[in-house]
Amino acid sequence: MGLLDDARNIQRKDPAARTVLEVILLYPGFHILVYHRLAHWLYQRGHFFLARWVSQRGRHKTGIEIHPGATIGRRLFIDHGMGIVFGETTEIGDNCTIYHGVTLGGTGKDTGKRHPTLGDNVLIGAGTKVLGPVYIGDNARVGAGSVVLKNLPANCTAVGVPAEVVRINNKAVNPADDLDQQDLPDLVAQRITALDQRVSQLEKAAQGDTPPTREQVTARSNRLMWPDSRTEPPGSES
Ligand SMILES: CC(C)(COP(=O)(O)OP(=O)(O)OC[C@H]1O[C@@H](n2cnc3c(N)ncnc32)[C@H](O)[C@@H]1OP(=O)(O)O)[C@@H](O)C(=O)NCCC(=O)NCCS
Repeated sequence: MGLLDDARNIQRKDPAARTVLEVILLYPGFHILVYHRLAHWLYQRGHFFLARWVSQRGRHKTGIEIHPGATIGRRLFIDHGMGIVFGETTEIGDNCTIYHGVTLGGTGKDTGKRHPTLGDNVLIGAGTKVLGPVYIGDNARVGAGSVVLKNLPANCTAVGVPAEVVRINNKAVNPADDLDQQDLPDLVAQRITALDQRVSQLEKAAQGDTPPTREQVTARSNRLMWPDSRTEPPGSES
């Protein structure tokens, strides 16, 4: 049966839990599942006020706030629990583990589906915030204290603020591995091209709107090459 399965799962995963009875009687992570099952049942049948009332009773008793609209899969393990918030359009797959202080919330910018979706076997570390309609793939692990703002692939470990993927299939993700060592950009050529363009622009500006005539260009280059003569190259007077 669903709830008994949930309790057994918690006892299996928490080394501190001695018996299933202890989980059923003393674990807020289990109690909130009972409240949520009822609240969600009422919500699905349009009894929104009553659903919310049940959910708030659960929050009062456990410190865990799950909106009645949130969809939760089988065998969710909420460890400790205090300070957890799941928004209305949150979806959680099967066999997930979520520690205290986790928010599966909205950014405040989205409407409609505005809360995260978790695949199966996802672990979310204590204090982590997952914001917006992002998707977290199956078997992903998110380190404690992270802030997740974008989708995470399956089988990854992501940590930090904002969270970055540091492991995939338990293998370190190294950005240097993805670098194309053969086709590196030629920075010197890029710089020379930029300088060339700049010189052309300056020349154009110095010349004014009317381009110089052929004679003016010849005279100018003669002046540069033979500064002592006036306009003609030496030997051309006669
Ligand atoms: C992320 C976590 C699940 C470990 O996953 P993992 O796949 O085994 O990853 P690793 O332990 O190999 O760590 C991978 C890298 O992330 C770093 N890291 C792990 N957890 C981190 C965290 N919370 N914040 C920042 N960096 C973290 C590690 O130092 C390691 O860095 P490195 O590659 O430079 O060595 C675990 O560290 C974690 O945070 N679990 C949550 C536990 C929790 O909330 N407990 C509360 C109990 S009350």
